[in-house]
Amino acid sequence: MKRGCVTPLIMSICILLFTLLYIHQITISSFISTSSLRRSTPAAEKRLKVETRPRPAAVPSKPAAPATPIICDRSHEPYDLCTLNAPTLMNPNLSTFSLVNDNVNHQDTTSPSPPQRTFEKVRPYPRKWENGIISGIKEITFTSDPSTDSCQIQHHAPALVFSAGGYTGNLFHDFSDGFVPLFLTTRSLFSGVDPVLIVANCRDWWLSKYAELLRSFSPYPVINLDNETAIHCFPSATVGLISQGFMTIDPTLLPNKETFLDFRALLQTAYMHHQHLHVSSPSTARPRLVLVGRTGGVSRVILNQKEVVQLAKKIGFEVVVFKPTRYTSLSEAYKMINASHAMMGVHGAALTHFLFLRPGSVLVQVVPIGIDWLGEICFGKPARDMGLEYMEYKITVDESSLVDEYGKDDLVLRNPEAVIKLAWSNTNIYLKNQNVKLDLIRVGVHLKKAYKKAKRFIEKQG
Ligand SMILES: *[C@@H]1O[C@H](CO)[C@@H](O)[C@H](O)[C@H]1NC(C)=O
Ligand SMILES: *[C@@H]1O[C@H](CO)[C@@H](O)[C@H](O)[C@H]1NC(C)=O
Ligand SMILES: *[C@@H]1O[C@H](CO)[C@@H](O)[C@H](O)[C@H]1NC(C)=O
Repeated sequence: MKRGCVTPLIMSICILLFTLLYIHQITISSFISTSSLRRSTPAAEKRLKVETRPRPAAVPSKPAAPATPIICDRSHEPYDLCTLNAPTLMNPNLSTFSLVNDNVNHQDTTSPSPPQRTFEKVRPYPRKWENGIISGIKEITFTSDPSTDSCQIQHHAPALVFSAGGYTGNLFHDFSDGFVPLFLTTRSLFSGVDPVLIVANCRDWWLSKYAELLRSFSPYPVINLDNETAIHCFPSATVGLISQGFMTIDPTLLPNKETFLDFRALLQTAYMHHQHLHVSSPSTARPRLVLVGRTGGVSRVILNQKEVVQLAKKIGFEVVVFKPTRYTSLSEAYKMINASHAMMGVHGAALTHFLFLRPGSVLVQVVPIGIDWLGEICFGKPARDMGLEYMEYKITVDESSLVDEYGKDDLVLRNPEAVIKLAWSNTNIYLKNQNVKLDLIRVGVHLKKAYKKAKRFIEKQG
């Protein structure tokens, strides 16, 4: 995965999106507080029971046609969200949710006229603006037409449908477009109710890698929409995930004002069952620094990593070099990082493991030339939101491998902003072709500061 945290081509759209997101926050919060979207399972179940009984013979006056039970909000830049607020039947072969047809056997002339027909389609991945990505996401249909199928599996919990396609496979995106939006959606719409998670574009490695984390969102087995064949029924269903921007949790937009710390607490719940795992604890009283390495000969590698490790050890850290792959066990990574005191790495997806640091510990992001903005929105802001001691090590021109290629006086090094302004795709120069060779004197100063902060963290922990 050579992607940076954001695909460069769409970055300019992202900037616009960010502005729009802030403007739209009011719409998000007013949407969330719309009571029509606060479905409660008991009520929905009650309705299911009531409607299977014969209707009363006489109705005083003919009621108006009921409104459609399908409500969609398409007003947000990153996502669409639809809710079918009535007993619903899922045909997985068609990726369609229909109304349960329970009126068929007891039609009478006094019953209300059928609800207006609605037909809504959603691709449930919160990067709606990015055509190339969203077109690969499975389309889910919600229809108010009653189905003629019959339920094979009846659930008493509401369904939540989303996609694990798109950029899934890049750890940053797995969280930024996946688990953080899942957190926002469950906290906004399912407070006190565990939904049944139905996942489209869901690959086996994803299900096994995130099994523990998925269990902390729902106790029910995940339904894999790609290979499911049975008809499932639910008291109600929602399709789509709420996003508030990259790796962002805005407490003011959530009914219970959860913060990034609550998301971190959820990770702890997910992985606490693995406390027995045999992962080394820091062997001494020395603070432990996790040095995140990038694997696979991709760019943004620390060329003099050995020297940097030696230096960190000399300063007083115990150093663990961590080179994760897609198959790295998250519970082992969690346990190791959760027991550490500092993390350092070059801007890149693997740095997303910062989520496993305990609040109060130290994150040092090494920011190569030309990606300051990405460094801030992908890791800087979220790290501060999570209560980390965040430090940035912005490299100087002399520490960039781009100097060998372009020469120190080239515009590429003198003015990256201007180069990126010329063409957004130029971001690739900085993301995909740049390694770093850290100045040991400069980085030593940063590491000493990080060491002091890590020591303070240990003292506070008692
Ligand atoms: C779908 O695939 C998953 C993962 O391979 C498997 O565990 C599950 O049993 C399959 N489900 C069905 C209904 O075939
Ligand atoms: C879905 O397709 C599978 C395989 O083609 C079939 O066995 C199953 O009965 C179908 N399910 C429904 C609800 O049509
Ligand atoms: C993470 O660290 C905290 C504080 O030291 C500890 O209470 C918790 O059990 C650790 N979690 C895991 C999964 O090791």
